Amino acid sequence: MTFFKETINSVPLQGQTVLVRADYNVPLAPDGSIADDFRIRASLPTIKKLLQDGCKVVIISHLGRPEGRDPKLSLEPVALRLAELLGEPVRFVDQTIGDKVRMAIKRAPGRSVTVLENLRFYTEEEANDTQFAHSLAVDSRARYFVQDGFGVVHRAHASTAAITQYLPSVAGLLLEREYSTITQAMKAPKRPLVAVMGGAKVSDKIAIIKAFINVADTIIIGGAMANTFLAYRGDDMGKSLVEPDEQTILDEIYAAATAKVGSKQVDDFLVLPSDVAVAKAINTAEARHEVAANHLEADDIALDIGLKSIEKAAKIITGAKTVIWNGTLGYAELPNFAHGSARVALALATHRSIVSIIGGGDTADFVLKWDARNGGSFTHVSTGGGASLELMAGEKLPGIESLLDARK
Ligand code: 3PG
Repeated sequence: MTFFKETINSVPLQGQTVLVRADYNVPLAPDGSIADDFRIRASLPTIKKLLQDGCKVVIISHLGRPEGRDPKLSLEPVALRLAELLGEPVRFVDQTIGDKVRMAIKRAPGRSVTVLENLRFYTEEEANDTQFAHSLAVDSRARYFVQDGFGVVHRAHASTAAITQYLPSVAGLLLEREYSTITQAMKAPKRPLVAVMGGAKVSDKIAIIKAFINVADTIIIGGAMANTFLAYRGDDMGKSLVEPDEQTILDEIYAAATAKVGSKQVDDFLVLPSDVAVAKAINTAEARHEVAANHLEADDIALDIGLKSIEKAAKIITGAKTVIWNGTLGYAELPNFAHGSARVALALATHRSIVSIIGGGDTADFVLKWDARNGGSFTHVSTGGGASLELMAGEKLPGIESLLDARK
């Protein structure tokens, strides 16, 4: 599927100063160090290509959700990690706009990388402020803007939307790969296409569930989301997390699923767990007990799908040609309740002919920790949480739409 926007491969960037928007919103450990550098590693192909082209690369990103300037959310540690991964010096400027930025970029050599301070230290960033975007363009002295922060393109912020009014704006290689891989799997998948859905809330994922009802051949439901489905189907879920007030949404979901496959097939299309793993409390010391999904005690908390459901899910998955996985199937932070998610990861990692697309956020965090090959056991691990959900749901993302259209 050809990408519909100009990219760094389709415009003449040689020797230019280029402003690159990355998504370096990385998880931080309690001591402030970078807990996972997946998003930094994912940005390397674009940066390396620009360096090959002799560009002066100026990188902007956000980190966290600061209210004003917050030293704990400085991008300086990210710049240091980027230098290690690139094996090249990376300059850091503790401002994002202004004289200091102008001077630093003027002095930087032709082929170089400079990281500017956290965009969200300025309230203008999230306000999509045109004056701020203008300053980003002028003070960086850039000739082109490159959007490569896939994880943030669902936001209309100064560095994703307004900036494109001031510089010719094209996609980076990560953005192109994310868009093309996810869109191909949703629009023209190799079939059967199995969607694996988990996570806490149905209400967060209504749009994507509806998109999967249209496109998938089977949808496996797990995680706390499955509790809400099971309760809707009449099971007493004890003390499990169940979303109240989702009756109308579930009516709609079942109506759409029934319209697609017929009432006799609906339970083979929307596959709920037949058994679950329960505990009386949520902590590492709790043992895992397997029970049928309609046999929970009043004080049971469902924290994972059960063994029978795990094996059924694995069987469905290994019969697929494409699997899109969004949301862990249990309380995967606790090893006792990560069995369902681990089995799905194993099924995908050992059947490499299956196109496996792992949605970002918690699912990506899980597979990256699980996989000794750092995500390399899967076809694609997305760097975007909300952005990958919105793209899969077929929504238009402002940070992509605003880029230059590809020339015919
Ligand atoms: C993410 O982590 O999903 C992106 O970096 C976007 O961050 P935000 O939800 O704070 O806008």
